[in-house]
Amino acid sequence: MAKFTWSSDLETGDQNVDYQHKKIVNYINLLETTLKTKEAPQSLLKNIIFGIIDYAEFHFTDEEVILTTIDYPHLQMHQKAHTDFVEQIQKLKSRFENNEDIRRDLHLLLTEWFKSHINQEDKRAFAFIKTAKG
Ligand SMILES: [Fe+2]
Ligand SMILES: [Fe+2]
Repeated sequence: MAKFTWSSDLETGDQNVDYQHKKIVNYINLLETTLKTKEAPQSLLKNIIFGIIDYAEFHFTDEEVILTTIDYPHLQMHQKAHTDFVEQIQKLKSRFENNEDIRRDLHLLLTEWFKSHINQEDKRAFAFIKTAKG
């Protein structure tokens, strides 16, 4: 399972947003460490899963507030990407609550989604802010 390593090419140029993205990467890596054992303590997994959901939702709201303030033209599309992701992660949470081992699926979803979302949507949005500010 590939480790999600933070690198400077993921930077959006907004320090606060980058800080939050790094925290998300830390969560993903914490989850990755639990994959090394056959079974991980349920309480630890619960903390990681609920923690990442809460943090991702807080982060999305923060981003959406910034993008609303600057009248970002692709706001609706960006918001929909966030909402769709939350739906996917909520489905995984339900499976976890039904005692399924979702570690691998969750890790895959988080890694693939965040890499591509940060690289494409977030970078594009915050590049727009830079040009808007002049
Ligand atoms: Fe983001
Ligand atoms: Fe975003």
